[in-house]
Amino acid sequence: MSELLSLCKAYRKYFDIGAAVNTTTIVKDAEILKQHFNSVTCENEMKYGRVQPEEGHFTFEDADQIVAFAKENHMRIRGHAPVWHNQTPDWFHLQGGRPAPRELVYERLDAHIKTVAEHFGDAVYCWDVVNEAAADTVPENHIARYGNETYRQTKYLNACGIEYLEKAYHLMRKYSPNAQLFYNDYNECDPLKRERIYTLMKNLLDLGAPLQGFGMQNHYSIYKPETDEVKRSIETYASLGLRLHITEMDLSCYQSREDPEITFTDEIMELQAKRYEELFELYRSYSDVIDSVTFWGVADDTSWLSRGTRKNWPLLFDMNGNAKPVLEKLIRAAE
Ligand code: GLA
Repeated sequence: MSELLSLCKAYRKYFDIGAAVNTTTIVKDAEILKQHFNSVTCENEMKYGRVQPEEGHFTFEDADQIVAFAKENHMRIRGHAPVWHNQTPDWFHLQGGRPAPRELVYERLDAHIKTVAEHFGDAVYCWDVVNEAAADTVPENHIARYGNETYRQTKYLNACGIEYLEKAYHLMRKYSPNAQLFYNDYNECDPLKRERIYTLMKNLLDLGAPLQGFGMQNHYSIYKPETDEVKRSIETYASLGLRLHITEMDLSCYQSREDPEITFTDEIMELQAKRYEELFELYRSYSDVIDSVTFWGVADDTSWLSRGTRKNWPLLFDMNGNAKPVLEKLIRAAE
């Protein structure tokens, strides 16, 4: 591929092109990042557990390395994700071995968001303040029996009720007055989950929470969801008046998590290319509401989907860091 071609330059008129990175990939994939990406997200380094593993003990070294790399290379930085039911240390939810009461949860949330927001300041232009607070899809017969529960059952919810969500946005606004504040979630194109995510965000907006955008994670596969379902989702979320970011794009080569390992054949690569082209065409056509498209990783070798026992090939760069043919097609399509 020509040295002159650049994904982020080609898409400048549409949206930013981002990658989730870590302290290894900013070195290993530095050249790819510099050529094709103008935005980064820390894969784990800004999450609660990494930043404050023990109460009052903050560690910013890894995130700071990534921020320095991004600044040096004129990349924007998305902040991800201080309020999440995962990767939050046990101590946060406990007091003397029992569940921490609401006041203490809020005190800790305030201290955490203050320190993190003030540490990064305007270097982070946008925060996924809350991640994945909507309940996952449950079978239809469950809904008939128990109702269509909007909120994920978490320790936050147990301690504070749904008010913790509103609180998180107000705290982030207080300590990071200039950042754009997002909510981020997955399975966002599943019709039932979409309804829950929509309701969760509508409730926040109705309560006056400073929510400005929604992050569609886009952990899809080369088989699903249907492009029409993605389109419907974009329209539904945008109808709330929110900006949209695609925050964690990858296209798994498997139908499901349980499939046995396959090999990455030309046929699968072509299917994947077609899906990438279709989705990018859709995203370009909604560039009036989509400001950023971020991939969850740079190259297949270090994708979270390849870390287990099963290999996967979800990204635009292969196991050796070479561009897949679809990269040039995506660039040409934007010209
Ligand atoms: C979710 C989170 C990300 C990351 C991925 C898997 O989508 O939002 O931060 O942990 O899972 O790696």
